[in-house]
Amino acid sequence: MNRSVIVLDTTLRDGEQVPGAKLNVKQKVEFAQQLKRLQVDIIEAGFPASSAGDFQAVQEIARSVGDSVSITALARAVQSDIDAVYESVKLAQDPLIHIVLGASNIHVEKKFNRSKDAVLQMGVDAVKYAKTLLPQVQYSTEDASRADFEYLWKTIEAVVKAGATMINVPDTVGYAEPEEFGDLIHRINERLKNINDKTILSVHCHNDLGLATANTLSAIKNGADKIECTINGLGERAGNTSLEEVVMALKVRENRYQCTTRIQTTELLRTSRLLTYLTGLDVQVNKAITGDNAFAHSSGIHQDGLLKDKNVYEIMSPEEVGAESMELILTARSGRHAFKHAVEKMGFATGEAAEFEALFQKFIALADMKKEVYDHDIFYLVNSIREQA
Ligand code: KIV
Ligand code: ZN
Repeated sequence: MNRSVIVLDTTLRDGEQVPGAKLNVKQKVEFAQQLKRLQVDIIEAGFPASSAGDFQAVQEIARSVGDSVSITALARAVQSDIDAVYESVKLAQDPLIHIVLGASNIHVEKKFNRSKDAVLQMGVDAVKYAKTLLPQVQYSTEDASRADFEYLWKTIEAVVKAGATMINVPDTVGYAEPEEFGDLIHRINERLKNINDKTILSVHCHNDLGLATANTLSAIKNGADKIECTINGLGERAGNTSLEEVVMALKVRENRYQCTTRIQTTELLRTSRLLTYLTGLDVQVNKAITGDNAFAHSSGIHQDGLLKDKNVYEIMSPEEVGAESMELILTARSGRHAFKHAVEKMGFATGEAAEFEALFQKFIALADMKKEVYDHDIFYLVNSIREQA
């Protein structure tokens, strides 16, 4: 039987660390609502100790979105950070505290300037403290892929004994390659089963060598129960594992992975476009799953094959990820119905009748000046109406 992989989305934490991706509280809540429609299992909503604004955003997401999706936020292994996470996520139905602490020699020596045992003890104390506040605690062994294995394991064993319910193994600097990362997860999994087989084993990969998706899939094959990823692969430097890529790989190659997720794949494109709109950061046109060309076929040979049978050149249908097989072109002759459809397709609520009518009139005025109205024009129109409100 297929096993279900837990999906944590960290777009609002790791993704939001990207220069230029800063969102305000209202935008974060809007995006979290879309993540809920996408049916991610856990939303990492931010790093509340970093600023009052981030604290407020996490708190608002926990309050307004956290009824059917678990909410977490990041803390360093210090009590004040853990308190900030607890205070901001506690209103969610299934809150989780996420603690991170370096596990590689370079982190221990350069960041903390303490002995390895002292750093390990910091982690244990942090988990023990977090457990006095909430039952669910995740511990991330930062830079795990460059850590000395025996020290990494000693840390994992100690924090699991202290009460951590999830162990997250990050490839923080995107250094691992798939076979090696799979082996690491396999070794940890074998030992973890012997001390507590209920502990959830999670992975968090970065894309510095373009291997984040491959590393995450390799980890799943080797027993990872949970994956951390972001929409559009947004995240520090070259980004994080792209949620849409892993989810569709598991779906399209289900026979090979024998794993499923709860993700509502028809919401993928809408979620990607909403993020582009909110952050202003474009997706490359040839990006797998969500790029503009992901389902475009331009060569004559391909078009001919497709017209005979779609499966000749398509391994998944555009509809499966929420794309349309039939693109409607918006012009000054388009009616309210087509325009409403286009606005909703991009992930926006069309609001009350009066608000929609104002938006439609702006659209007509713009369409009168242009041959065609594109997605980015709709982003602009929605934005200008919201700014007036
Ligand atoms: O990349 C990383 O190590 C992280 C941790 C906080 C999980 O983002
Ligand atoms: Zn990260």
